[in-house]
Amino acid sequence: MPKQEVSLSINGEQRMVVIRFADTLLEVLRGKLGLTGAKPGCNNGDCGACTVLIDTCPYKACIMLAVETVGHEITTVEGLHSTPIQQAFADCYAFQCGYCTPGFIMNAHALLQQHRVIDEYTIREWLESNICRCTSYEEIGEAVRTAARLRDARTAPSLDTSVDTQQRRDL
Ligand code: FES
Ligand code: FES
Repeated sequence: MPKQEVSLSINGEQRMVVIRFADTLLEVLRGKLGLTGAKPGCNNGDCGACTVLIDTCPYKACIMLAVETVGHEITTVEGLHSTPIQQAFADCYAFQCGYCTPGFIMNAHALLQQHRVIDEYTIREWLESNICRCTSYEEIGEAVRTAARLRDARTAPSLDTSVDTQQRRDL
């Protein structure tokens, strides 16, 4: 089968890699680029363990061809650093074996980026594409709610009282 060298933009870096046109993104990430955060679960698009972001949207890397992602920005769990959802998964004990966790984190991270206000219905509907075999979905839902609060706290404008103080001095 013919192979070709392509440049993929992954976690903010350009990576040159030789692929076959039939290679899935998951095979390339794990087997050729050493990015093993995205996990093979079903390899059939059903479990969500392999979820990564393409631009800002979550996709299942096991059913996407690597060649389709040329020209797009791929983000894997290795590309996230100290995000609210990572902190919240730890704080809420939202995992046991952890196999599904990178996929949940990537999907929930996209949810938090795309929705300022997140209600219960949205959380349930958004996370329907991911399956966990061993922990409770309650903790995962709580992690998303906690992450939304953390995100809002980080982005809230700080109250700068210096002007008021100066104005009061001038009075
Ligand atoms: S491994 Fe991709 S959806 Fe299950
Ligand atoms: S924590 Fe084990 S499959 Fe989800």
